[in-house]
Amino acid sequence: MVNTDNPELSVADAAAPPGRSGPRFATATHLIVASLLVTGAGCAGEDFSITASSDPTTTAPTTIAPTTTAPTTKSTTDGRSPEMTTGATDVGDPLIPGSGNGGYDVAHYDLRFEMGATRTEFAGRTEITATATSPLGRFNLDLSGFEVSAVTVDGERAAFDRSGAELTITPAQPIDRGARFSTVVTYAGEAEPIQDPAGLGTIGWMSGPSGSFIAAEPIGAHAIFPCNDHPSDKASFTVVVNTDADDTVVANGTHTAPKVTGDRAEWTFDQREDMATYLLQIAIGDYRVITSEMPNGVGIRHAVAASADPKGLDFLDETDEQIAFFSDMFGPYPFENYGVLLAELDQGFALETQTLSILPVAMTDPLYAGSLGISGVAAHELAHQWFGNSVTIGHWSDIWLNEGMATYAEWMWSDHAGRRPLTDAVSSAEVRSPEFRQAFGAIAEPEIDAVFSPNMYDGAALAIHALRLEVGDEAFFDILRAWLDTKNGSSVSTSDFEKTATAVTGRDLSAFFDAWLRSVTVPDLPDRPR
Ligand code: ARG
Ligand code: ZN
Repeated sequence: MVNTDNPELSVADAAAPPGRSGPRFATATHLIVASLLVTGAGCAGEDFSITASSDPTTTAPTTIAPTTTAPTTKSTTDGRSPEMTTGATDVGDPLIPGSGNGGYDVAHYDLRFEMGATRTEFAGRTEITATATSPLGRFNLDLSGFEVSAVTVDGERAAFDRSGAELTITPAQPIDRGARFSTVVTYAGEAEPIQDPAGLGTIGWMSGPSGSFIAAEPIGAHAIFPCNDHPSDKASFTVVVNTDADDTVVANGTHTAPKVTGDRAEWTFDQREDMATYLLQIAIGDYRVITSEMPNGVGIRHAVAASADPKGLDFLDETDEQIAFFSDMFGPYPFENYGVLLAELDQGFALETQTLSILPVAMTDPLYAGSLGISGVAAHELAHQWFGNSVTIGHWSDIWLNEGMATYAEWMWSDHAGRRPLTDAVSSAEVRSPEFRQAFGAIAEPEIDAVFSPNMYDGAALAIHALRLEVGDEAFFDILRAWLDTKNGSSVSTSDFEKTATAVTGRDLSAFFDAWLRSVTVPDLPDRPR
């Protein structure tokens, strides 16, 4: 199994060569080391069989009562074929077997957390509004850890069963195909981070001295709440956190003023635009919130952990200009607000949690963040709000669409900001790409341990630059804008991207895409725009 306490990580980090554009490249270096260490260990498949760590000694507060009518004793399986009525226990994503579920489509998650003794321990209530896409005598949610005390479906108590990370629910009445139904899961415990199947380390709801925060990509959300933990099923979210009135809470989307009652405060957040589960953010603790509003109406909200050195925060002042720069190129910023959550994340990476990207406090150290500093990382996570968050991949094997575009956007920002010419970023990626392909394979056909490899960052950004040279600037930006405009809010695939490029240019680009995305040989960059 993967060793999470690997001393070589810090060596790789310290050895990150100058001229690289940020800590995700340090992370990428980690992952080269990591992949060498785990090659052949078969850890990818095993990692998702996350063991439920339900600790019977957990004494979480129990103020959230199941909202239920009297339990029904009616049998639910009589006379029905289970094959016909059971939602799939897996969406069939080959890179992360077991993740997600089938048979329904979630429209909305309403998450309530009554926080207990720690900033990750709670009594929870998750209400899921979904539409059945097949008749459902039974269906599954993903959930790891916690004690589940009750499940109701449309207000009636439902039977449930847990096995590994699967919560199987048998409603009192079968659900018809096309019916909208509401499931309430009442549960409690300490959120225990789980193993990241794509690399070393853990994902989920974590804490540092200043407070808690979430980094869940790719499948850490179900270690926080029961869900369809796969980016192919996006939904809107409401998050309600009841906690110590001394703490500050920030989460995805917008919020109203907290309601204070005695020494408790209740915060409510609305993420109105659909969001993938891996993009959930809830941070609770000693965070300083800095707000402003851009001329275009986008609300700016940063949240900074108390431990952050105020001298390292200048990069936050660039946020408005970054949003304006990307909006010009890509089209309007896709959400109501944006900001950086600077938190004590020690996993060595940043994450584009929707409307509130999490960056590690450690990256404010100029030595840690590399020659371009934390500004490049901040630009990268901001670009993901368009590429990854608004337009979301439907399968993890298409991760190059996220990381390649965010890296290319970061290159363009660093060029615009006068920190590194785009041509330097391109040449450096050109030099290193053959090595990335050898180590991690074709860009659009990764194994799980290549998902956050440099092949998907600099390697995929080079492929995107190649597309720009192939079709010319005007068509290139037309493709990006058409892509974001037509796929906004949905889950997409590589072939969708190829179709958009073909439609916009009116050209058959299949040879180009095969060479750049489905080969381990790195082609030469096209000479000039055609
Ligand atoms: N999407 C993140 C980024 O933009 C990377 C997250 C890496 N996650 C992980 N579990 N290793 O850089
Ligand atoms: Zn990224």
